Amino acid sequence: MQSNCNMSEQELLMHGVIMREALLRILARHSPLCGIDGGDTEACVRSLADAHLNVGLPPFKGNPLPSSLYSTASQALSDAPRIERDFKTLLTALEPLLHNSRWIKRFATEGDDAGFEEKHRHALILGEGALFECSTMTVGLAVMAPNLCYPFHTHPPAEFYVVLSEGDWYREDVGWWNPGPGGVVFNPPSAVHSMRSTHKPLLALWGLINESSQPIRERKTSADSVFPGGRSERS
Ligand SMILES: [Fe+2]
Repeated sequence: MQSNCNMSEQELLMHGVIMREALLRILARHSPLCGIDGGDTEACVRSLADAHLNVGLPPFKGNPLPSSLYSTASQALSDAPRIERDFKTLLTALEPLLHNSRWIKRFATEGDDAGFEEKHRHALILGEGALFECSTMTVGLAVMAPNLCYPFHTHPPAEFYVVLSEGDWYREDVGWWNPGPGGVVFNPPSAVHSMRSTHKPLLALWGLINESSQPIRERKTSADSVFPGGRSERS
């Protein structure tokens, strides 16, 4: 990853806006192909479009990516799809933000892959406690080492993944499938889902719609966090 630790707030904000606009175009283009409730996809796009980006209180202190995952993230970013213009724009804007983002991990539970906790991280880009304060969405970048399965989980917020690598995705009503690099996955509220890497690292941008931003029919009361995998550690 290219080092950009000393970017000004204005530069960070500019990259954040460019990333958000590219992400909006990708989601808007793919949403009719997802084959699930159009309301969920529309809610994702509307929430992201309504997001107001503000750089977190300076100086932003993020927990860095562990050195053990540095080569994994670098390889994943190097392999990510850049042929299509919006993906190239997205990745070019995203990469410098990663050096200023807080990286978090999900706790492993019984039955998870051995060493799961140390083989994945999420960079928090938008949302509460993220690089950019955002009240309507939480957006992060998932990085997983090869041959790793993310725990099956569920959460009330609807969720999207912009797939940036090879990998398999699971949703309870579909089973396992491979959306391929450049694919988009939507998970309706509370659907059981998962993902797993192949012999290469997995890379995906995900977004969760905050409860207050969802249509009335989607709102549910729950103590679950807006993290994509339930209980997490701010590491
Ligand atoms: Fe999730």
